[in-house]
Amino acid sequence: MIKKCLFPAAGYGTRFLPATKAMPKEMLTLVNKPLIQYGVEEAVAAGITGIAIVTGRGKRAIEDHFDISYELEHQIKGTSKEKALAPIRQIIDTCTFSYTRQIEMKGLGHAILTGETLIGSEPFAVILADDYCVAEPDPVLLQMVKLFEKYQCSVVAIEEVPAEETYKYGVIDGEEEEEGVFRIRQMVEKPDPSEAPSNLAIIGRYILTPDIFDILRDTPPGRNGELQITDALMTQASEGRVLGYRFKGRRFDCGSVEGFVEATNHCYTNYYKK
Ligand code: G1P
Repeated sequence: MIKKCLFPAAGYGTRFLPATKAMPKEMLTLVNKPLIQYGVEEAVAAGITGIAIVTGRGKRAIEDHFDISYELEHQIKGTSKEKALAPIRQIIDTCTFSYTRQIEMKGLGHAILTGETLIGSEPFAVILADDYCVAEPDPVLLQMVKLFEKYQCSVVAIEEVPAEETYKYGVIDGEEEEEGVFRIRQMVEKPDPSEAPSNLAIIGRYILTPDIFDILRDTPPGRNGELQITDALMTQASEGRVLGYRFKGRRFDCGSVEGFVEATNHCYTNYYKK
């Protein structure tokens, strides 16, 4: 059903400067694998093979990563190092990659609208690679795809955050229809704790129905003067067409240095050292 996943990847990653001066923030690694590869693997685990990436200036390394490196492969052929490339090789063989560039940074909504040319008019997933998620047995996006198959409307991943941190997130309110599934009535981008409708925050996993593109075109700039996906989704939510899904699993905020270090330790202990 969901065949494509959009990765907005044009942002600057200023919190990691100088590391992200010449290198895309999506290429920062948790131990030995770039953040965006974890995201693509999550998409593939959800049955998605159409990978659509919205890039920008200075993001060439992403395209090179999801391509063959003949010289390197030739060098390590027949050695023990070959197996280190097997997972990425598998992704390249399984997926198709398409790219478009966001010329100006005008917000997440604008980045998603820029991706319309790669998506067309079908429901699609969105992964923000700096939210790194771990979940078993089903990865978070697969949990959401299953929910979409049942309800056929937009779905956003949510988690409870400390009340004082609502200013960092899109925040929702709604009625719980089944355990962990909320029919969203209200959503606000980065509200002050005093104005937040709840402490249920949106995290970087979405499934969107394609009418979102027309809605985005008609949505005025919101928080920080940027076109916000949260505001566009509120239009769908006012018609009862957005679900908030409290996913099973754990999410690391790799957009912050603290979250990135925690995720690094998690990957080192659970995957690399084992
Ligand atoms: C974006 C969204 C926000 C969401 C967050 C999840 O914000 O605008 O609604 O809660 O991602 O990571 P950003 O973190 O890009 O400022």
